[in-house]
Amino acid sequence: MDERPIGVFDSGLGGLTTVRELCRLLPEEDIVYFGDTGRVPYGSRSRETIIKYARQDVAFLRTFDLKAVVIACGTVSTTALDVLAAENELPVLGVVAPAAQAAARATRNGRIGLIGTQASIRSGAYERCIEQARPGTQVLPQPCPLFVPLVENGRFAPGDVVIETVAAEYLAPLKQAGVDTLVLGCTHYPLLESVIGNYMGPGVTLVSAGAEGARAVAETLRERSALAGGRGRGACRYFVSDRVEDFSRLASIFLGWDVADSVGQVEIG
Ligand code: SIN
Repeated sequence: MDERPIGVFDSGLGGLTTVRELCRLLPEEDIVYFGDTGRVPYGSRSRETIIKYARQDVAFLRTFDLKAVVIACGTVSTTALDVLAAENELPVLGVVAPAAQAAARATRNGRIGLIGTQASIRSGAYERCIEQARPGTQVLPQPCPLFVPLVENGRFAPGDVVIETVAAEYLAPLKQAGVDTLVLGCTHYPLLESVIGNYMGPGVTLVSAGAEGARAVAETLRERSALAGGRGRGACRYFVSDRVEDFSRLASIFLGWDVADSVGQVEIG
């Protein structure tokens, strides 16, 4: 049994898709979340900058006594997981392999669409993991650079003309190619699940990197006998590098509970 909190970080709001699933699966765990809202998006930056930011994010989280760090960010998971895992003696877990494995299990026609940030698509990390899980699978990658800024500005509801237009433009080639499974390779994208699902249609299985990452964390902690147990509901604390009010408002809508009293602002880097 390990009562220490789990540290979770992302470039902004997207990692809350992992937090929501962690809270559902492991309600007794304490969570410390960091969203780098002052520097989002990460996905259009160079590898060097992403690694630099990720190191600073982990350094902040490690001011707490954590049992594991979860990279709830597709971009950092594709670009900096190895570096962060090598530099930290505690488990550092990403979202790429769990999402790739889930997609490989889900596809029936062997054609998987992959949407992510420019950095994630450039890395080729999802393709490598899918090939390993199911050799010969066809992966169709599509960068979606406008999704993260739109989500961070609260434009994720079905019926919003801007997000629906942008989604149609990005997703049309994947729909035409007949993918039957779509990896939401950035943890912000599950906030667009309804918009994306409505466009792709009911025959396409959406795989959320955020939720799959959370399931893998639960499994890893269980295997290591590192779950907190038998003490009632855990607490979540949230830290951001800018715009506390915007984060609190959008996070409360997305999570379905009020986070306003648990959010603080920190200087990072
Ligand atoms: C971003 O900051 O550009 C997106 C983060 C992610 O890939 O999950």
